[in-house]
Amino acid sequence: EKDGHDWFMRKEIFEQPRAVADSLIGRRTAAGQLQLDEMRLADEELRDVDKIIIIACGTSFYAGMVAKYAIEHWTRTPVEVELASEFRYRDPIIDSTTLIVAISQSGETADTLQAIRHARSQRAKVLAICNTNGSSIPRESDAVIYTHAGPEIGVASTKGFLTQLVACYLLALYMAQVKGTRFGDEIDEIMEQLEAMPGHIETVLEGADAVYELARAHATTRSVLFLGRHAGYPVALEGALKLKELAYLHAEGFAAGELKHGPIALVEEGLPVLCVVPPKGRDSLHGKMLSGIQEVRARGARTICLAEAGDTSIEPYADDLIRLPKVPVLLQPLVAILPLQLFACELATALGHDVDQPRNLAKSVTVE
Ligand code: F6R
Repeated sequence: EKDGHDWFMRKEIFEQPRAVADSLIGRRTAAGQLQLDEMRLADEELRDVDKIIIIACGTSFYAGMVAKYAIEHWTRTPVEVELASEFRYRDPIIDSTTLIVAISQSGETADTLQAIRHARSQRAKVLAICNTNGSSIPRESDAVIYTHAGPEIGVASTKGFLTQLVACYLLALYMAQVKGTRFGDEIDEIMEQLEAMPGHIETVLEGADAVYELARAHATTRSVLFLGRHAGYPVALEGALKLKELAYLHAEGFAAGELKHGPIALVEEGLPVLCVVPPKGRDSLHGKMLSGIQEVRARGARTICLAEAGDTSIEPYADDLIRLPKVPVLLQPLVAILPLQLFACELATALGHDVDQPRNLAKSVTVE
């Protein structure tokens, strides 16, 4: 049942090329138009949306953070991302022109469900992004985009996360199409980049052994930091969450630009710091990330850098280097999270922990 793997989590990590491919099937018409069949929201309703609030918990919340970057960039619609457990307790400003996007793998998370109920009582429309057919969250929403990860058994979400990202990109592109933003013309190109992702994911997973070796080499550390910028920032947060959940280690993710505002004080000799390096683009993001990496390294950190193929500028600052395929920054989370999943899974295994059933955690959290 685990396909020869020791853990469901590891099996599910290796299912990700298939899960991402399945989540993309049937999304384009012969004429090249994007379609989200099961969505049940009329194009006019989407056109009227003037604000989006994404609500979710845990890993799904981090998918929501990536979604904010994609939706705002491609559709110019303002997006807030909020923890479902905080949402209804702060008297949020919502009305019938607000679209709530609720992201949940299980579809049964009580915090998210309660937030949906609150939003609907204020006449907001709710779109669920969910992996479980017929679960409570899609049933109580106005519309749904199903992800096609298949059942996720390991408590730590992996393929659930990747397919949520795909659904968020599809939603963003669909909105760009409906609203006719200037990115409308680029939808084809971005869809092609998405359709290339299963192959890229495969390539990164082929390098699993090198990541496992790194994980085992760091198994005795007491703390690990994760740094990212832009869409790599939620990846850093998700990488840290995986390590907390599975290895019971102190792990924290930071936006690399925040380092100098406090977190750099944590850096001491030998501290492993995993760095998600943005692709080398036209802007200065990449250079800023490099200087952040230099700063932690100058203070004794051991830097493990995830950087795109051909990026040689990172070499002097990386104690260890994991290569990622060349993809646009907004799509990079789909490949950058993979080594972090593998790292957490292997490190927890080396410590002798039960990876599929970490202590104190349940697969779906049905109490608030
Ligand atoms: C982390 C993890 C949790 C869930 C969170 C939300 O690996 O699995 O953080 O992401 O409990 O669950 P869903 O997506 O089912 O609402």
